[in-house]
Amino acid sequence: MENEILQYLQQKNICLIGFMGSGKSLLGNYLSEILNNKLIDTDQVIEKEENMPISEIFRAFGEKYFRAIEKKLLQDIVFTMADHERIILATGGGLPLKRANQKLLNMIDPLIICLNPPFEVILSRIKGTKRPLIYRRSRKYIFNLWMSRYAIYQKFAHITISDETFEGILQSLNERIKLWITSH
Ligand code: S3P
Repeated sequence: MENEILQYLQQKNICLIGFMGSGKSLLGNYLSEILNNKLIDTDQVIEKEENMPISEIFRAFGEKYFRAIEKKLLQDIVFTMADHERIILATGGGLPLKRANQKLLNMIDPLIICLNPPFEVILSRIKGTKRPLIYRRSRKYIFNLWMSRYAIYQKFAHITISDETFEGILQSLNERIKLWITSH
C-alpha cells in the first residue's frame, strides 16, 4: 500500500467486519504488522478469556451468553482505550449486526471496512469448520444467513471490498481509501 495510505491508516482506528470466512483475521494481522498498531480479534480474546473455543461456548451456554460477553468485551475495549491509542478491531461476524454494538463501535470513530467476497468463496472457506452457526447446516441455510446480513454490513461500513485474493484486497483497499480520504 502507498505511503500516504499507510500514514492515514496508522492514525485511525480500524474496524473489520463481514461474514464468517471473509478474511477479517488475516487482514487484521497484516494491518497490525505493517501499521504497528495493536490487533484485537474479538473471537480470539473471548476464547482466551473464557478458556474454551467459541464452538464450546455456544454448546455449553448458548448464543445469548456468547452475545452478552461479546458486547461486554466491546464495551471494555471502547471505554478503556487511551486517547492516543490506535487499534485494529477484527470483529466476529455477528457483532456489528446489533445496533447497540454499532453505537459502541462508532464511539472510537473507526474506519469501518467490510470484507465481502463472493458467497461461493465464503462457503468453501467455512464449510467443514466448527463455527457453531453453520456447523452441519445446508448450503441453502448458510446462503440465507449470508443474505440476511449482507445489507447490514454494507450499510454500516465506510468501505466494502469484494475481492477474493489477498493481493486484490490490498489493491482495492489502496484505491478505496484514497477516494475516502479525498471525499472526507
Ligand atoms: C459468528 C461469527 C464467528 C463467531 C461466532 C458467531 C457470527 O466469528 O463470532 O461463531 O455470528 O457470524 P467469525 O466471523 O470470525 O467466524
